[in-house]
Amino acid sequence: MKQLNSNLQRKVFSSVLVKFAVCFLLLGVAYRLLSSSFVQFSPVVVSEDNPPALSVDNTLPPQIIDDRSVNLHNHTSQNESCNLFEGEWVRDLNGPMYTNSTCYTIEAPQNCMKNGRPDSDYVYWRWNPSHCTLPKLHPSKFLEIMRDKSLAFIGDSIMRNHVQSLLCLLSQVEQAVEVYHDEPYKNRRWSFPSHHFTVSVIWAPFLTKAFTFEDDNGVSSGLIQLHLDKLDKVWTQQYENFDYVVIAGGKWFLKSAVYYENNAIVGCHNCHDKNISELGFKYAYRKALNSTLKFISESKHRPYIFFRTTTPDHFENGEWNTGGYCNRTRPFKAGEIGINVVDEIMRNVELEEFEWAAGRGSVNGMSLKLFDTTMLSLLRPDGHPGVYRQFHPYDGKDKEAKIQNDCLHWCLPGPIDSWNDLMMEMLLRHAR
Ligand SMILES: *[C@@H]1O[C@H](CO)[C@@H](O)[C@H](O)[C@H]1NC(C)=O
Ligand SMILES: *[C@@H]1O[C@H](CO)[C@@H](O)[C@H](O)[C@H]1NC(C)=O
Ligand SMILES: *[C@@H]1O[C@H](CO)[C@@H](O)[C@H](O)[C@H]1NC(C)=O
Ligand SMILES: *[C@@H]1O[C@H](CO)[C@@H](O)[C@H](O)[C@H]1NC(C)=O
Ligand SMILES: *[C@@H]1O[C@H](CO)[C@@H](O)[C@H](O)[C@H]1NC(C)=O
Ligand SMILES: *[C@@H]1O[C@H](CO)[C@@H](O)[C@H](O)[C@H]1NC(C)=O
Repeated sequence: MKQLNSNLQRKVFSSVLVKFAVCFLLLGVAYRLLSSSFVQFSPVVVSEDNPPALSVDNTLPPQIIDDRSVNLHNHTSQNESCNLFEGEWVRDLNGPMYTNSTCYTIEAPQNCMKNGRPDSDYVYWRWNPSHCTLPKLHPSKFLEIMRDKSLAFIGDSIMRNHVQSLLCLLSQVEQAVEVYHDEPYKNRRWSFPSHHFTVSVIWAPFLTKAFTFEDDNGVSSGLIQLHLDKLDKVWTQQYENFDYVVIAGGKWFLKSAVYYENNAIVGCHNCHDKNISELGFKYAYRKALNSTLKFISESKHRPYIFFRTTTPDHFENGEWNTGGYCNRTRPFKAGEIGINVVDEIMRNVELEEFEWAAGRGSVNGMSLKLFDTTMLSLLRPDGHPGVYRQFHPYDGKDKEAKIQNDCLHWCLPGPIDSWNDLMMEMLLRHAR
């Protein structure tokens, strides 16, 4: 069984690994574009009675018949025990709360509208849980809940994507003021002065102590060294400052790395060293999450924690560097797409480690909540920048040009905005 598992992992890996390299590449691009993306635009008011036209494209599979607007205006029933993460995407003709013209802080690689993405259908959906309604995040209510509080997003570039969405949503009421950033803009902090509310994003893609040997373009000059039993101080040293924490592992664990425990090498993933045994990424992922959740459940400090599950990507017909793309324009319905093997392995580890920690934590009143966005994200192949991670990618090129796609991060506005609706609803339920 063990043999089978690791064979499976290896097979899946060789193909999946490369694909994630794009994310790291994109990161580099993001940082470099960042300083230039803070140009002040004059606000443009989007008229409410004149919503942008929906472009309906039926040429792409799957053909989806629109029968999903049934619960759209059902705000009457609130089922407190319902699973918020089980449901489907339904039409939302109200459209997003912000656009590229009303939020000035969208990072260039996620600014699909500005970058010239031709279809806009993907912003007219909202997540609809099966047994209850999910209201949109209410910016002023959210800021009121967060008055005098501090919220931190700890993880990789998906966390940054998430925080950008929140800043855009809240900017419709109060503009965040950046109060800190490190040199590469990996760690940042914003303040909402009139609410004394602070938002931080903390770069800790492994959560544990790690030494990486990569330049800004994601080009590696050595194997990652990962200490599975030691946490990354970048977040643990600040942990006591936070009232709310969103935390997750992720795709960095798929990279080749040497694993350490107790300062000694215990194995590796893809290191091709005969002296070091291949343990597979699953081993490392489990240990790292275990260490993380152990710290959280043993800490005397008790913030409210959203423990997020893995985020699936939607590269099709290739990898990021072999022509893989994501140009669908419609969500999937439940059952139309299955989770891939790697995401399933990761999510299962996440669920097991969460259950273990939640069991330990329940005795001492810890607020550790599963933020299970995997399945709802899986249903949104249409929400990625694709080629529109670049400004007008086809300018000066012919339509057949090979252009690198981003099928992992999300357009803003886009499906990731719903993650904030979910956070708001969980906070409200917690307060009730
Ligand atoms: C609203 O939701 C309730 C409970 O889920 C359901 O019984 C009712 O049929 C829904 N109403 C509409 C108009 O969809
Ligand atoms: C409330 O949610 C639970 C769990 O999802 C479900 O079993 C139950 O039928 C729901 N009740 C109503 C009235 O929708
Ligand atoms: C937003 O995107 C639209 C469509 O590409 C573009 O015309 C407009 O200039 C953009 N606005 C800003 C402020 O970038
Ligand atoms: C492997 O281990 C042997 C014996 O400990 C040692 O002599 C050799 O240098 C090691 N090889 C590598 C590549 O580390
Ligand atoms: C999606 O991309 C593929 C490959 O480039 C292409 O064959 C297909 O026509 C595209 N679909 C749309 C709607 O652009
Ligand atoms: C996490 O690690 C602890 C030891 O620190 C162990 O007792 C526990 O079983 C582990 N939990 C899981 C779910 O692997």
